[in-house]
Amino acid sequence: MDTTDAKPLESMDLWEEDLLERYPEPEHVFRDYKAEVRPSVKEFYRLNHTHQTNEFVRAKKKLYGALAKAEMSVWEAMEFLNTLVDDSDPDTDATQIEHLMQTSESIRQDGHPRWFVLTGLLHDLGKVLCLFGEPQWAVVGDTFPTGCKYSDKIVFSEFFSGNPDCEKPEFQTEAGVYEPGCGFEKVDLSYGHDEYLYRVVKDYLPKEALYMIRYHSFYPWHREGAYDHLASAEDRENLKWVKEFNKYDLYSKVDERPNVEALRPYYEELIAEYFPAKIRW
Ligand SMILES: [Fe+2]
Repeated sequence: MDTTDAKPLESMDLWEEDLLERYPEPEHVFRDYKAEVRPSVKEFYRLNHTHQTNEFVRAKKKLYGALAKAEMSVWEAMEFLNTLVDDSDPDTDATQIEHLMQTSESIRQDGHPRWFVLTGLLHDLGKVLCLFGEPQWAVVGDTFPTGCKYSDKIVFSEFFSGNPDCEKPEFQTEAGVYEPGCGFEKVDLSYGHDEYLYRVVKDYLPKEALYMIRYHSFYPWHREGAYDHLASAEDRENLKWVKEFNKYDLYSKVDERPNVEALRPYYEELIAEYFPAKIRW
Protein backbone atom coordinates (compact mmCIF):
# COMPACT_ATOMS: atom_id res chain seq x y z
CA MET A 1 0.00 0.00 0.00
CA ASP A 2 1.24 3.46 -0.81
CA THR A 3 1.13 5.14 2.59
CA THR A 4 1.46 8.63 1.13
CA ASP A 5 -2.01 8.04 -0.27
CA ALA A 6 -3.42 6.81 3.00
CA LYS A 7 -4.54 10.16 4.41
CA PRO A 8 -6.23 12.35 1.84
CA LEU A 9 -8.68 13.86 4.37
CA GLU A 10 -7.17 16.68 6.42
CA SER A 11 -9.58 15.65 9.17
CA MET A 12 -11.62 12.50 9.70
CA ASP A 13 -14.60 14.75 10.35
CA LEU A 14 -14.51 15.89 6.74
CA TRP A 15 -16.12 12.66 5.68
CA GLU A 16 -19.02 13.35 8.02
CA GLU A 17 -19.31 16.99 6.97
CA ASP A 18 -19.52 15.65 3.47
CA LEU A 19 -22.47 13.47 4.47
CA LEU A 20 -24.26 16.63 5.59
CA GLU A 21 -23.79 18.04 2.10
CA ARG A 22 -25.15 14.89 0.54
CA TYR A 23 -28.05 14.43 2.94
CA PRO A 24 -29.01 17.93 4.10
CA GLU A 25 -31.88 18.32 6.54
CA PRO A 26 -35.17 18.17 4.65
CA GLU A 27 -35.89 21.88 5.03
CA HIS A 28 -32.60 22.81 3.38
CA VAL A 29 -32.69 23.51 -0.33
CA PHE A 30 -31.34 20.90 -2.69
CA ARG A 31 -27.79 21.55 -3.78
CA ASP A 32 -25.74 19.95 -6.49
CA TYR A 33 -23.56 17.73 -4.33
CA LYS A 34 -21.08 16.62 -6.97
CA ALA A 35 -20.34 20.17 -8.06
CA GLU A 36 -19.30 21.13 -4.53
CA VAL A 37 -17.45 18.07 -3.28
CA ARG A 38 -13.98 18.66 -1.87
CA PRO A 39 -11.06 17.19 -3.86
CA SER A 40 -9.77 15.46 -0.72
CA VAL A 41 -13.12 13.73 -0.21
CA LYS A 42 -13.16 12.60 -3.82
CA GLU A 43 -9.63 11.22 -3.49
CA PHE A 44 -10.65 9.51 -0.25
CA TYR A 45 -13.45 7.65 -2.06
CA ARG A 46 -11.17 6.77 -4.97
CA LEU A 47 -8.83 5.01 -2.53
CA ASN A 48 -11.70 3.45 -0.57
CA HIS A 49 -13.43 2.03 -3.64
CA THR A 50 -10.18 0.84 -5.21
CA HIS A 51 -8.76 -0.99 -2.20
CA GLN A 52 -11.79 -2.38 -0.34
CA THR A 53 -11.86 -5.79 -2.02
CA ASN A 54 -13.73 -8.79 -0.62
CA GLU A 55 -10.38 -10.37 0.24
CA PHE A 56 -9.26 -7.23 2.07
CA VAL A 57 -12.47 -7.14 4.13
CA ARG A 58 -12.21 -10.78 5.12
CA ALA A 59 -8.60 -10.35 6.19
CA LYS A 60 -9.41 -7.29 8.35
CA LYS A 61 -12.40 -9.01 9.94
CA LYS A 62 -10.15 -11.89 10.89
CA LEU A 63 -7.36 -9.65 12.15
CA TYR A 64 -9.42 -7.28 14.29
CA GLY A 65 -12.21 -9.73 15.09
CA ALA A 66 -9.75 -11.56 17.35
CA LEU A 67 -9.93 -8.54 19.72
CA ALA A 68 -6.26 -8.95 20.54
CA LYS A 69 -5.13 -5.34 20.14
CA ALA A 70 -5.82 -4.00 23.63
CA GLU A 71 -7.74 -4.30 26.90
CA MET A 72 -9.31 -1.00 27.84
CA SER A 73 -12.34 0.39 29.60
CA VAL A 74 -14.83 2.23 27.41
CA TRP A 75 -13.70 5.54 28.89
CA GLU A 76 -10.05 4.68 28.22
CA ALA A 77 -10.97 3.97 24.61
CA MET A 78 -12.61 7.40 24.40
CA GLU A 79 -9.47 9.03 25.75
CA PHE A 80 -7.36 6.96 23.37
CA LEU A 81 -9.49 8.10 20.42
CA ASN A 82 -9.00 11.66 21.60
CA THR A 83 -5.26 11.32 20.87
CA LEU A 84 -6.10 11.04 17.17
CA VAL A 85 -4.55 14.15 15.70
CA ASP A 86 -5.98 15.42 12.47
CA ASP A 87 -4.39 18.14 10.36
CA SER A 88 -7.34 20.43 11.00
CA ASP A 89 -7.21 23.25 13.56
CA PRO A 90 -7.45 21.77 17.08
CA ASP A 91 -8.58 25.11 18.56
CA THR A 92 -11.73 25.39 16.50
CA ASP A 93 -12.70 21.75 16.01
CA ALA A 94 -14.48 19.70 18.64
CA THR A 95 -12.46 16.80 20.07
CA GLN A 96 -13.49 13.23 19.36
CA ILE A 97 -15.00 12.89 22.87
CA GLU A 98 -16.98 16.10 22.32
CA HIS A 99 -18.31 14.71 19.05
CA LEU A 100 -19.44 11.55 20.78
CA MET A 101 -21.13 13.51 23.57
CA GLN A 102 -22.87 15.85 21.14
CA THR A 103 -24.53 12.79 19.65
CA SER A 104 -25.37 11.11 22.96
CA GLU A 105 -26.58 14.34 24.58
CA SER A 106 -29.05 15.05 21.80
CA ILE A 107 -30.37 11.49 22.06
CA ARG A 108 -30.68 11.96 25.83
CA GLN A 109 -32.50 15.29 25.44
CA ASP A 110 -35.14 13.56 23.32
CA GLY A 111 -35.87 11.15 26.18
CA HIS A 112 -34.67 7.95 24.53
CA PRO A 113 -33.77 4.83 26.57
CA ARG A 114 -30.40 4.61 28.30
CA TRP A 115 -29.01 2.00 25.90
CA PHE A 116 -29.74 4.40 23.01
CA VAL A 117 -27.89 7.25 24.76
CA LEU A 118 -24.96 4.90 25.38
CA THR A 119 -24.97 3.87 21.72
CA GLY A 120 -24.64 7.52 20.75
CA LEU A 121 -21.63 7.85 23.02
CA LEU A 122 -19.95 4.73 21.66
CA HIS A 123 -20.84 4.60 18.01
CA ASP A 124 -17.61 6.03 16.57
CA LEU A 125 -15.13 4.45 18.99
CA GLY A 126 -14.13 2.02 16.25
CA LYS A 127 -12.17 4.90 14.76
CA VAL A 128 -9.33 3.82 17.06
CA LEU A 129 -8.47 1.65 14.03
CA CYS A 130 -6.64 4.75 12.78
CA LEU A 131 -4.45 4.60 15.87
CA PHE A 132 -3.71 0.96 15.10
CA GLY A 133 -2.24 2.17 11.80
CA GLU A 134 -5.16 1.68 9.41
CA PRO A 135 -5.49 4.21 6.56
CA GLN A 136 -8.56 6.48 6.52
CA TRP A 137 -10.13 4.53 3.65
CA ALA A 138 -10.22 1.39 5.86
CA VAL A 139 -11.85 3.21 8.79
CA VAL A 140 -14.44 5.74 7.61
CA GLY A 141 -16.67 6.41 4.61
CA ASP A 142 -19.98 4.91 3.51
CA THR A 143 -19.90 1.11 3.64
CA PHE A 144 -21.15 -1.22 0.88
CA PRO A 145 -21.29 -4.98 0.23
CA THR A 146 -18.25 -6.62 -1.37
CA GLY A 147 -18.44 -9.91 -3.29
CA CYS A 148 -21.41 -8.83 -5.40
CA LYS A 149 -22.35 -6.17 -7.92
CA TYR A 150 -21.82 -2.58 -6.77
CA SER A 151 -24.95 -0.47 -6.64
CA ASP A 152 -24.93 2.80 -8.54
CA LYS A 153 -26.47 4.27 -5.37
CA ILE A 154 -23.03 4.14 -3.74
CA VAL A 155 -21.36 7.56 -3.71
CA PHE A 156 -18.72 7.85 -6.47
CA SER A 157 -19.53 4.36 -7.72
CA GLU A 158 -17.50 5.14 -10.86
CA PHE A 159 -14.34 4.59 -8.79
CA PHE A 160 -15.10 0.88 -8.50
CA SER A 161 -13.62 0.48 -11.97
CA GLY A 162 -10.22 0.51 -10.22
CA ASN A 163 -11.17 -2.34 -7.87
CA PRO A 164 -9.66 -5.75 -8.80
CA ASP A 165 -12.96 -7.42 -7.75
CA CYS A 166 -14.45 -6.03 -10.97
CA GLU A 167 -12.44 -8.68 -12.82
CA LYS A 168 -14.17 -11.53 -10.96
CA PRO A 169 -17.24 -12.83 -12.84
CA GLU A 170 -18.70 -14.47 -9.70
CA PHE A 171 -18.92 -11.00 -8.07
CA GLN A 172 -20.83 -9.38 -10.94
CA THR A 173 -24.36 -10.61 -10.23
CA GLU A 174 -26.90 -8.89 -7.94
CA ALA A 175 -26.37 -11.41 -5.13
CA GLY A 176 -22.79 -12.37 -6.06
CA VAL A 177 -21.36 -14.94 -3.65
CA TYR A 178 -24.40 -14.64 -1.33
CA GLU A 179 -27.87 -16.18 -1.23
CA PRO A 180 -30.64 -13.64 -1.85
CA GLY A 181 -32.22 -12.70 1.50
CA CYS A 182 -29.30 -14.19 3.46
CA GLY A 183 -29.10 -11.13 5.75
CA PHE A 184 -26.29 -8.63 6.16
CA GLU A 185 -24.83 -10.73 8.95
CA LYS A 186 -23.50 -13.01 6.19
CA VAL A 187 -22.43 -10.19 3.87
CA ASP A 188 -18.90 -8.78 3.92
CA LEU A 189 -19.49 -5.03 3.98
CA SER A 190 -16.47 -2.84 3.23
CA TYR A 191 -14.34 -2.71 6.39
CA GLY A 192 -14.42 0.18 8.81
CA HIS A 193 -15.19 1.49 12.27
CA ASP A 194 -18.78 0.14 12.22
CA GLU A 195 -17.85 -3.53 11.84
CA TYR A 196 -14.93 -3.30 14.22
CA LEU A 197 -16.92 -1.70 17.06
CA TYR A 198 -19.79 -4.13 16.52
CA ARG A 199 -17.35 -6.95 17.20
CA VAL A 200 -16.03 -5.22 20.34
CA VAL A 201 -19.44 -4.55 21.95
CA LYS A 202 -21.61 -7.37 20.62
CA ASP A 203 -21.85 -9.28 23.90
CA TYR A 204 -22.91 -6.25 25.92
CA LEU A 205 -25.61 -4.23 24.14
CA PRO A 206 -29.18 -4.92 22.97
CA LYS A 207 -29.72 -5.99 19.37
CA GLU A 208 -31.15 -2.63 18.29
CA ALA A 209 -27.98 -0.91 19.50
CA LEU A 210 -25.84 -3.40 17.61
CA TYR A 211 -27.74 -2.66 14.40
CA MET A 212 -27.16 1.06 14.87
CA ILE A 213 -23.45 0.55 15.46
CA ARG A 214 -22.83 -2.03 12.74
CA TYR A 215 -24.76 -0.31 9.95
CA HIS A 216 -24.65 3.41 10.70
CA SER A 217 -22.31 4.06 7.73
CA PHE A 218 -24.24 1.74 5.38
CA TYR A 219 -25.86 4.70 3.60
CA PRO A 220 -26.55 2.77 0.37
CA TRP A 221 -29.00 0.67 2.41
CA HIS A 222 -30.40 2.94 5.12
CA ARG A 223 -30.63 6.13 3.04
CA GLU A 224 -30.76 4.94 -0.57
CA GLY A 225 -32.72 1.69 -0.20
CA ALA A 226 -30.18 -0.38 -2.16
CA TYR A 227 -29.31 -4.03 -1.46
CA ASP A 228 -32.73 -4.95 -0.09
CA HIS A 229 -32.36 -8.25 -1.99
CA LEU A 230 -29.64 -9.29 0.48
CA ALA A 231 -31.52 -8.15 3.60
CA SER A 232 -33.22 -10.65 5.93
CA ALA A 233 -36.59 -10.06 7.59
CA GLU A 234 -34.67 -9.19 10.75
CA ASP A 235 -32.57 -6.59 8.90
CA ARG A 236 -35.73 -4.95 7.55
CA GLU A 237 -37.29 -4.96 10.97
CA ASN A 238 -34.28 -3.20 12.46
CA LEU A 239 -33.84 -0.66 9.67
CA LYS A 240 -36.06 1.75 11.62
CA TRP A 241 -33.51 1.81 14.45
CA VAL A 242 -30.64 2.51 12.08
CA LYS A 243 -32.64 5.36 10.54
CA GLU A 244 -33.61 6.75 13.93
CA PHE A 245 -29.98 6.75 14.97
CA ASN A 246 -28.85 8.40 11.74
CA LYS A 247 -30.75 11.61 12.57
CA TYR A 248 -28.57 12.09 15.62
CA ASP A 249 -25.38 10.96 13.92
CA LEU A 250 -25.78 13.44 11.09
CA TYR A 251 -27.42 16.48 12.57
CA SER A 252 -26.19 16.73 16.15
CA LYS A 253 -22.58 17.63 15.42
CA VAL A 254 -23.10 21.31 14.81
CA ASP A 255 -24.33 22.10 18.32
CA GLU A 256 -22.33 23.80 21.06
CA ARG A 257 -19.44 21.94 22.68
CA PRO A 258 -20.47 19.78 25.67
CA ASN A 259 -18.78 20.08 29.06
CA VAL A 260 -17.03 16.72 29.13
CA GLU A 261 -15.85 16.80 32.75
CA ALA A 262 -19.26 17.83 34.08
CA LEU A 263 -20.97 15.06 32.13
CA ARG A 264 -18.42 12.40 32.95
CA PRO A 265 -20.06 10.98 36.14
CA TYR A 266 -23.35 10.42 34.32
CA TYR A 267 -21.62 8.61 31.49
CA GLU A 268 -19.31 6.56 33.72
CA GLU A 269 -22.42 5.24 35.48
CA LEU A 270 -24.16 4.53 32.19
CA ILE A 271 -21.13 2.66 30.86
CA ALA A 272 -20.89 0.59 34.07
CA GLU A 273 -24.54 -0.43 33.67
CA TYR A 274 -23.71 -2.34 30.47
CA PHE A 275 -19.96 -3.03 30.44
CA PRO A 276 -17.41 -4.68 32.71
CA ALA A 277 -14.45 -2.57 33.89
CA LYS A 278 -12.28 -3.60 30.91
CA ILE A 279 -13.20 -5.03 27.54
CA ARG A 280 -11.12 -6.49 24.71
CA TRP A 281 -10.36 -4.39 21.66
FE1 LIG B 1 -19.40 6.71 12.41
